[in-house]
Amino acid sequence: MRKIIGLSLITLSAFAYKPDYQQIFLPTPAKVETKKQEFAKDIRFILDEKATMLDENQKQIGTIYEGTMVKLIETKGDLAKVSISGEVVGDKLAFNKNAEFIYLESKNAKPEMSFWVKSSSLTTDKDAAFEGVEVFYYDSCTSCHAAHAPSEHAIDEWDAYLGAMQMNAKITDEQKDRILRYMQAHSSNGAFK
Ligand code: HEC
Repeated sequence: MRKIIGLSLITLSAFAYKPDYQQIFLPTPAKVETKKQEFAKDIRFILDEKATMLDENQKQIGTIYEGTMVKLIETKGDLAKVSISGEVVGDKLAFNKNAEFIYLESKNAKPEMSFWVKSSSLTTDKDAAFEGVEVFYYDSCTSCHAAHAPSEHAIDEWDAYLGAMQMNAKITDEQKDRILRYMQAHSSNGAFK
C-alpha cells in the first residue's frame, strides 16, 4: 500500500510539474521578424557597410551606407549607375529633414542625385543588405535584456535610446550610428515600417 501511494505521488508530481520547454530551451528568439516587402524591379539596396560613390570620371565623391535603397539606371563593366532622392542636411542625404536614417555623406549632396558604385555593392534583397548590422545589433544589445524590435519605437526615439545605451553596449560612435541607421530604417515611422 505504502509503495502504491509513494508511486502515485511521484506520478502525480510528474504531471503537476510541467516545465515550459519553450522558455528553458529557447531563451531568446534568434531574430525579430521584419515585414517582407515587395519592391519594383529596378530597386537595389547597398550591401556593403559603406560603399564608395563615384562620379562620371570615377572620382570618389562620397560614401553611401548599407541598406540604402537606390534605383538602378545602368551597368557598365563592374560598375552600376544608381539614383537616389532624400533630404539634404549639410553634407548628408537622409530619409528626413532631421537627418534621421542617413543614406550617404557627400560634399555635393543634393535632393536628387545619381552616381556610380561597384555592382557587387548592390543587392535586390533588402534583408540581405541589413543582415550584417542586424547580427551586430543582436551581439551588442541583448546581453542585458531581450532584443527590442526596431518597430517598437519611432525614428527619433531610437536616437535617444541608442545615445543612452551606447555606454552599456561599449560601442564606438561609428558602431552606434550603424545600429541607429538599422533601427531607424525599420522603426514605426521609418523607411521600411
Ligand atoms: C549593460 C547592459 C545593457 C546593454 C548592453 C544594453 N542595455 Fe538597453 N537597457 C539596460 C537597462 C538596465 C535598461 C532599463 C533601464 C534604463 O532605461 O536605463 C535598458 C533599457 C533599454 C531600452 C528601454 C526599454 C523601454 O521600453 O523602456 C531600450 C530601447 C534599450 N535598452 C535598447 C538597447 C540597445 C539598442 C542596446 C544596444 C546598443 C542596449 N539596450 C544595450 C541595459 C543594457
